[in-house]
Amino acid sequence: MSPSEFAADLRVLWQLARGQSKRGSHADRLNAFYGPQAARYDQFRARLLHGRGEVVEALAVPPGARFVELGCGTGANLELLARTRPLSSLTSITLVDLCPPLLALARARAAEHVNVEVVEADATTWRPLEPVDRVLLSYALTMMPDWRATLANALAMLAPGGRIGVVDFHLPQDGSRLGNACWRRWFAHDGVHLSDAHTTTLLNDCQTLRFDCLRAPVPYLPGLRVPYYLFVGAKR
Ligand SMILES: C[S@@+](CC[C@H](N)C(=O)[O-])C[C@H]1O[C@@H](n2cnc3c(N)ncnc32)[C@H](O)[C@@H]1O
Repeated sequence: MSPSEFAADLRVLWQLARGQSKRGSHADRLNAFYGPQAARYDQFRARLLHGRGEVVEALAVPPGARFVELGCGTGANLELLARTRPLSSLTSITLVDLCPPLLALARARAAEHVNVEVVEADATTWRPLEPVDRVLLSYALTMMPDWRATLANALAMLAPGGRIGVVDFHLPQDGSRLGNACWRRWFAHDGVHLSDAHTTTLLNDCQTLRFDCLRAPVPYLPGLRVPYYLFVGAKR
């Protein structure tokens, strides 16, 4: 890693150490948190947010599909989707987020494709004009205070037989009470709220096609392995 890349990582680490502000609206807090990190978001998160390629692949997006990502950030998952099939073979791809500094990067990515739309909106309420075939939530549910409304919204926008893919941090079933309390507190500092209820609700409300609980390394913290899950379900 070059000295300038390391300096850019330090700015992200500083922001993570400062945590997410508790002032203002949810959108204000996301802006203040992500604005200073936006330029380095993709490079840093590629080493922190694991399983995104796997969940996109497991979604098995068919040709002609309408695809939505709720909480898309910089739209980095567009590149992972393009590895599974040409983006031009999809009817539409809509990327939704509330955070303008990250959306600016998503818009730059979308500009290369005629069928990709970027929308600044709240995932709890935004609805497409027509039902969609696939919805992706990648490390987004834990950052949404009203995650139940987001999940209900995601399932409501799916066409019959449509699928939802979720990858996110979680509290491991086999984790100790103390260990899980530490994870919860550590993440909450940055506005990431871990809850058993996320996976319980997904398993209850969808027909499960895949559910894996895994662990992955954390940049600059050797030996630490963060728990995350990967879920793909079909609309009942
Ligand atoms: C950790 S980032 C993940 C971004 C992207 N999905 C990825 O995999 O890189 C979480 C994203 O959720 C977005 N977000 C949080 N609450 C939201 C809401 N209510 N509506 C839309 N987006 C939201 C944030 O702005 C942020 O971009």
